[in-house]
Amino acid sequence: MNRATGVCYYPEHWPEELWVEDAARMAAAGLTYVRIGEFAWSRLEPQPDVFDFDWLDRAIDVLASAGLKVVLGTPTATPPRWMLDRHSDMLALDGEGRPRSFGSRRHYCFSHAGYREECRRIVTSLAERYGADTRIAAWQIDNEYGCHDTVLSYSDAARAAFRTWLADCYGSIDALNRAWGNVFWSMDYATFDQIDLPMLTVTEPNPAHVMAFRRFSSDQVVRFNRVQADVIRSHSHAPLIHNYMGRVLSFDHFAVGADLDIASWDSYPLGFLSERLEASDDWKRTFLRQGDPDFQAFHHDLYRAVGRGRFWVMEQQPGPVNWAPFNPAPLPGMVRLWSLEAFAHGAEVVSYFRWRQAPFGQEQHHAGLVRPDNDAAPGLAEACMVVDEIADLPPPGTEPASVALVFDYASAWAWETQPQGADFDYFRLVFAAYRALRRAGLSIDILPPDTADLSGYRLVLMPGLATVPPVLRAAIGAAEGVVLAGPRTNAKTTEFAVPVPLPPDLPGLSATVTQVESLPPNVDVPLSGGGGLGHWFEHLETTTGHLLTTEEGTPALVGEDRRWYLAGWPDSKAFDRIVALAAKAAGLETERLADGVRIRDCGSVRFVFNYGADAQPYRNETVPAAGVLLMAR
Ligand code: GAL
Repeated sequence: MNRATGVCYYPEHWPEELWVEDAARMAAAGLTYVRIGEFAWSRLEPQPDVFDFDWLDRAIDVLASAGLKVVLGTPTATPPRWMLDRHSDMLALDGEGRPRSFGSRRHYCFSHAGYREECRRIVTSLAERYGADTRIAAWQIDNEYGCHDTVLSYSDAARAAFRTWLADCYGSIDALNRAWGNVFWSMDYATFDQIDLPMLTVTEPNPAHVMAFRRFSSDQVVRFNRVQADVIRSHSHAPLIHNYMGRVLSFDHFAVGADLDIASWDSYPLGFLSERLEASDDWKRTFLRQGDPDFQAFHHDLYRAVGRGRFWVMEQQPGPVNWAPFNPAPLPGMVRLWSLEAFAHGAEVVSYFRWRQAPFGQEQHHAGLVRPDNDAAPGLAEACMVVDEIADLPPPGTEPASVALVFDYASAWAWETQPQGADFDYFRLVFAAYRALRRAGLSIDILPPDTADLSGYRLVLMPGLATVPPVLRAAIGAAEGVVLAGPRTNAKTTEFAVPVPLPPDLPGLSATVTQVESLPPNVDVPLSGGGGLGHWFEHLETTTGHLLTTEEGTPALVGEDRRWYLAGWPDSKAFDRIVALAAKAAGLETERLADGVRIRDCGSVRFVFNYGADAQPYRNETVPAAGVLLMAR
């Protein structure tokens, strides 16, 4: 695999006279890929059924003649205004029944059959025209599914499709009533047509109803994507990609990814730190211009799994963005660091967003690699450094990490549906575990919940995994490494009921959760020896060994041999102790890294990243501020 860089470009935004120069500068910078087209529908089909592909032909000619490989986006995230005249009911409605109107992007409901056909139509035209064109190196379908909170829609189209989906799933209304426990509060239905979307109820709707709606909504994204994937595949052999986002959990990315060849994601470290992370003010100040030291790595590992080993960063922040509450500029060195970190986690391509900053529209203060006046912006020099450096990197390893963390989108929906404690958030819990593993210097693989084989992993964590599917259950039984479950693992059936036998009910674990407690912020259950459990605490009945106890002597971490259960949500000190114990039992070496220092082992190389604003020692070396050190392993 060759590593490469790229850039996102919007030829339709610029006078055609600029294209040749732009393409020449991209090529001179050493960029390999250029992604185009993903928002260009109004220029490709200015009026219904009146197409204009000539400008796109010319743009592809110019870019390809400069030696660039084109990633062609399908424009379905931005239906033109005329589309609404054709399909006045195609908009998604929010949970209060209000339309999410035209005037920005992603203004469509995934369930609207008419809009889906319009997408099939425009994508068929594109695929017929460019499918055999070898200058098209890959296709990007749509743009950032789920971004701007766009998966759940409460439209008439969604309601009708939900009813059909339920009938297919449950077969009979009696089966649905039983599965959902509708006897509770006299919620029984007589026909599928009586079932509404879970909105505007007096108090909380039945969680089984909400979970069914969440699964349905996720399936609608999969179906929507599949229409385009099938069309393109029937005309093209180029790989299919989607660009996912950071901490978007509203649909099952593994399920969408199964229809594609490569996963990619859009990495905006400073925007994410500012708006998508729970962290202290101090932490956010410390990493203001660098981003969180674990957030990008987590998503690289996640999307490597979604892409079954293949992932790109389709959009890499090159300077300040426009969309977070506050938008600082990266420290010099960070664009390079973020890029190299992606490669260290196995990325094939890092593509910068965007070529030239746009002086109009919503993103006027979003940096590009060049400024609106066409001078180089600071990100360009760093991108050029990356181009030079990746040429000399040894090949990435393909061997799995020693540690795995199971990640499951349905668990995120489950704990959102009925958190039981206001701040119980699945991502936050899993990410806390990920951070603790990384603080200990470990490299991690993320696994989907239907993983059938855990052999090869010395340590596997599955915090908060609401339902353990049968294949994973069998894999746990057969695993040779240490398996650490809890808190809240296997705590619900697929229909969101409390299972009997009571949780965790996992092979090799003789522990039972008899009662759960959620705790308000700033209240915790201290552990003897240091650290504590907060947010969540489970009472265990167990005959198995106590590895950690509360100060009162009740079990907090239990297990024997290689099956362990954690009865609460550890703070960072407790998580460090737990990881140290588990790693020791698993025969893994750990170390204690400074806050901004992180490691990723990749093939024969260890990458050491310093997210700190000051140089940091690592072993006998020094990692420069906002810098990267490569060591032989
Ligand atoms: C991404 C999106 C891009 C652009 C960018 C700005 O979410 O895919 O089109 O809006 O954010 O940071």
